[in-house]
Amino acid sequence: MKNRNIFWASFSFIVLIQLTSLTIFGENFPSEVKSPNGKIIVSFQLTNTGQPTYEIHYVDHMVIQQSRLGFVIDDGFNFANNFVISETNKRSFSEDWGPLWGERNSIQNEFNEIVIGLTQAESNRKLNVIFRAFDDGIGFRYEFPEQEELNNFKIMDELTEFNFTGDHKCWWIPGDHDSYEYTYQTTKISEIDISKTEYSPRGDRFVSNPKSVNTPITLESEEGIYFSIHEADLTDYADMTLVVKDKYNFETDLVPWADGTKVKAVTPFKTPWRTIQIADRAADLLTSTLILNLNEPVVEGDFSWIEPIKYIGIWWEMHIDKSSWARTYIEGSWSGKDGLPHGATTENAKRYIDFAAENNIKGVLAEGWNTGWEYWGADTTGFFDFVTPYEDYDLHGLINYAKEKGVEIVGHNETGGDVENYDSRVEDVFKFYNSIGIRAVKTGYAGAIRPVGERHHGQYMVRHYQKVLEVALKYHIMIDAHEPIKDTGLRRTYPNMMTREGAKGMEWNAWSAGNLPEHTTILPFTRMLGGPMDYTPGIFDISIDSKEGFSVHSTIANQLALMVVLYSPLQMAADLVENYDHPAFQFIRDVPTDWDETIINNAAIGDYVTISRRRGNDWFVGSITDENERVLELSLDFLDKEKSYTAVIYKDAADSHYEINPEVCEIESVKVSSDTVLELRLAPGGGQSIMITED
Ligand code: NOJ
Ligand code: CA
Repeated sequence: MKNRNIFWASFSFIVLIQLTSLTIFGENFPSEVKSPNGKIIVSFQLTNTGQPTYEIHYVDHMVIQQSRLGFVIDDGFNFANNFVISETNKRSFSEDWGPLWGERNSIQNEFNEIVIGLTQAESNRKLNVIFRAFDDGIGFRYEFPEQEELNNFKIMDELTEFNFTGDHKCWWIPGDHDSYEYTYQTTKISEIDISKTEYSPRGDRFVSNPKSVNTPITLESEEGIYFSIHEADLTDYADMTLVVKDKYNFETDLVPWADGTKVKAVTPFKTPWRTIQIADRAADLLTSTLILNLNEPVVEGDFSWIEPIKYIGIWWEMHIDKSSWARTYIEGSWSGKDGLPHGATTENAKRYIDFAAENNIKGVLAEGWNTGWEYWGADTTGFFDFVTPYEDYDLHGLINYAKEKGVEIVGHNETGGDVENYDSRVEDVFKFYNSIGIRAVKTGYAGAIRPVGERHHGQYMVRHYQKVLEVALKYHIMIDAHEPIKDTGLRRTYPNMMTREGAKGMEWNAWSAGNLPEHTTILPFTRMLGGPMDYTPGIFDISIDSKEGFSVHSTIANQLALMVVLYSPLQMAADLVENYDHPAFQFIRDVPTDWDETIINNAAIGDYVTISRRRGNDWFVGSITDENERVLELSLDFLDKEKSYTAVIYKDAADSHYEINPEVCEIESVKVSSDTVLELRLAPGGGQSIMITED
């Protein structure tokens, strides 16, 4: 943990607030707001039918053309027309704040804001639209003020559009209501159509429109401007998916409740922020802090129990069919195959604890430690209580054994999607974990949601994930959520919201065609613009010796680099510990999980990326490529000019290749300084990692 005041986790210097604050009533309302550097201009306009719309200019280009705003509420009531502007309000804001942990220790939050107050002529109902223009993009949200005419209401449709000016290239996954675990597609906007790709319906997946996408969706215009649409501060609303309407226009399509309602609300009520990151270079998307800045600051408290850590665990062995989550096998269950031994035994867990203690790793996860797994996937409910260990797993003994060695057990709560069950138990479960010293829990929702008909990304589940996060905060538990709602930057407000899955992770390599090398060169520019991901990198047995026909599609040097590239404050080294008897494991021992500074050295979406992160005086570099071999340049001009350094380089061999020869990794040590320019040669599907320390 960084050396900061632990009782006041986040420093915040408000440099200037309300530089200009201007409220205007009457005819001539200002309707524009500019980013602090003047490059981005958002303008608001009512059409002649009183429909709210906005457009965006970037430098001299119109980049979002007239796009409508508004809602359909209750029983089809039109809340998108007949509006008049009743007031507008402008202000400027600037602060520097420091997150408790993350990719950097200081974040600038500077924007200009305009609030447009609207009143609907006939109904006298009120709606505000708030726009904030930052140098790295814009955010806008709707506010339904408290009012007599609107109290308890339902949003049946949100009409927000993002109307681009060209058929941009984009990186997208379908707008599935239950899962984000897809291979990214790279197409023009006009070519978005999941029915032309891998989609096959399953009980825990649902795509209602083949032309829908989920966010973050990242786009590149012909002029080379980059955009990413996403949302921020999603705590009590439905996931925003987008559907391609006419031409290059994306229209919002919220994930509904089982009864078809999109959102249930009571005024005063705010939607999440709709966000558009805008950048001249792909690299600048990666340093954007827009999403975090559009979340509320943390409330003061004691967060000394929150600590980014590395972990290992009894996990991969179940995915590669070496052992099972359950102790016995029941027809229809997903938890392993008949005849496989149980993975989470006391003996096996001790082996992991011993290894962690010897190798600078703090956490040990054990999946399948609790009773009920034989029913996972079977059509029944209530089988997990999350507190009773299987007989061959000595929960209390292991907690103490770990503690004596300076290690801790990471709890695991797979719900199988049975949310009614988990919801009724979670308070007692976290209270119990707190009492025995568990302070990190991986949750999971692998399965269709119960109540039947609710979706992983609907408001019902957004509320559930939020409740789990808040209960966890109360009992000092850090959360790592799998099958989660997408990350919208809540870690600023809830610093125990550490990491989550929410994309195709490592596990897919164990039981499907897997993730091609390109996948991890797209993730930073799409999924991870929302926040950290528990990808679970660090597999050394790339060819998965025990499971024929499956492999990790990467080199070992690439796996090491992912520990830096794919930021996660709970970072798993995912392989079986017996595979870590390898000199390259030293990089995993050394790499931190919390950083002071992050810079992007090379970036091309879907091709390659190089990221350097500083912790104190040490730098760690991760560079990865897709299936193509490349030579990238890395200037070390970010090092202190006055100092000399040693770089330990972990790289692909001349004949490394992600399918043919993935497991050779060369290690060398060289003297470097701020004048050094390194040549990074990356094999097909390869990578390079470097640790740079002061002499
Ligand atoms: C899916 C999760 O992504 C994976 O990490 C976990 O092992 C299984 N569910 C079982 O909980
Ligand atoms: Ca998963």
